[in-house]
Amino acid sequence: MLISDSKISIFISHSARISEKLFNESKSTWHFFTKFVDELQQPVLPLLSKHLKKMITTTDNYDLTKHNTFAMRVKCGVFMEYTKAEDIPFILSSIRKDVERFHIGAGSDLLFTGDYPGVILHSAIKGMEIISESPQEVIVRVGAGESMDDFVIWAADRGLWGIENLSGIPGEVGASAVQNVGAYGAEACDSIVAVHAFDEVEQEFVTFQKDECMFGYRDSIFKQPDEKGRYIIHAVDYSLSPSGCPNLSYPALKKIFEEKDCTSLSPHDIRKAIIGIRDSKLPDPAEVPSAGSFFKNPIVTPEHFEQICRSEGNTDIPHYTVDNGLKIPAAWMIERCGWKGYSDGNVAVWHLQPLVIVNPEKKASPEEVIKLENKIIESVNARFGITLSPEVEHI
Ligand code: EPU
Repeated sequence: MLISDSKISIFISHSARISEKLFNESKSTWHFFTKFVDELQQPVLPLLSKHLKKMITTTDNYDLTKHNTFAMRVKCGVFMEYTKAEDIPFILSSIRKDVERFHIGAGSDLLFTGDYPGVILHSAIKGMEIISESPQEVIVRVGAGESMDDFVIWAADRGLWGIENLSGIPGEVGASAVQNVGAYGAEACDSIVAVHAFDEVEQEFVTFQKDECMFGYRDSIFKQPDEKGRYIIHAVDYSLSPSGCPNLSYPALKKIFEEKDCTSLSPHDIRKAIIGIRDSKLPDPAEVPSAGSFFKNPIVTPEHFEQICRSEGNTDIPHYTVDNGLKIPAAWMIERCGWKGYSDGNVAVWHLQPLVIVNPEKKASPEEVIKLENKIIESVNARFGITLSPEVEHI
């Protein structure tokens, strides 16, 4: 079918005015539009930036170095960024169905394994809005494109408790729900009450209550292979407490405050201590590119743990009991295999926390990172009989 530019542009300006509220009633128009796009040769509707440049930016052959904290110098076919939830259906419809797409946050937990030929989407939806407030609980709706740490500061500035232990985690609020980020005794799911998304399959805006999100260790429904990419998160509701108290379950944090009167502490006091602990162990992604913990902490059976204890000469092996077995810190095993501080070409294992692979000179290629990753996996497997899984998503 031949479609003239002017027809498309009229169609787009009409479609772009359809609000989120009206969207569900306009599905048939939408499907018609999607069909138009599929019949074009370009991966993304060409007139998009011309007509919607205030809300959506599209750039071809885009350099992603600044969009991944590992600083991999890779490019994508098209980069699209948007600022409003109601733009999501329009954006998705403007991408040809056979073109690969991937939605990123701050790119702090991923490894681009090479140039990405398809479309990279990024939300620049901002905003932190109190949607309900009582002496016990404040619920805040946060735009998916807000920096998680800016949100932590926002909460601490208002004396609101709940997310201060997540201080300093790089990444954005949308990804905090996908990944269920966690550190120092807290996880995002401890405070998330709802996640708002656009469901690309059903073509509708949906809200997931916390118990529908299937949160687990660095896991959620939004990461499940059969649901992956289906939901585009545009806002997350966090429950904070004006009358909370510090969560000192992480041993190093408890130690800092053991002499202090905990009732006099503020979220900012905890934030300061957490940032201190982070800085003592983890590289600052602005200075030393990395994607944080590269591997997940594995879970083994009690029998396997006993076997490791025997083969390691019954040393005091760090571990935590979890529902389905014993969790052993991958950092301990990697250090035991002699990798801490190791460097090879442009990649290295962080000298203070061996769970982190770094790109100190910003010159590493994805291949170098993957080569080191595989060497670590092989050596841990050979010594402990455990196959480490990467925490960092490979794209
Ligand atoms: N350890 C070593 N050598 C080291 C560092 C640690 O043996 O050099 C052992 C120690 O036994 C230590 C244990 O590992 O007690 C745990 O170390 P740490 O508390 O630093 O935590 P982790 O399990 O290595 C996890 C998260 C981090 C998070 C910290 C703190 C994962 C994959 N990583 O690391 O998350 O900051 O706990 O809560 O769960 C991230 O996801 O990017 C990240 C940095």
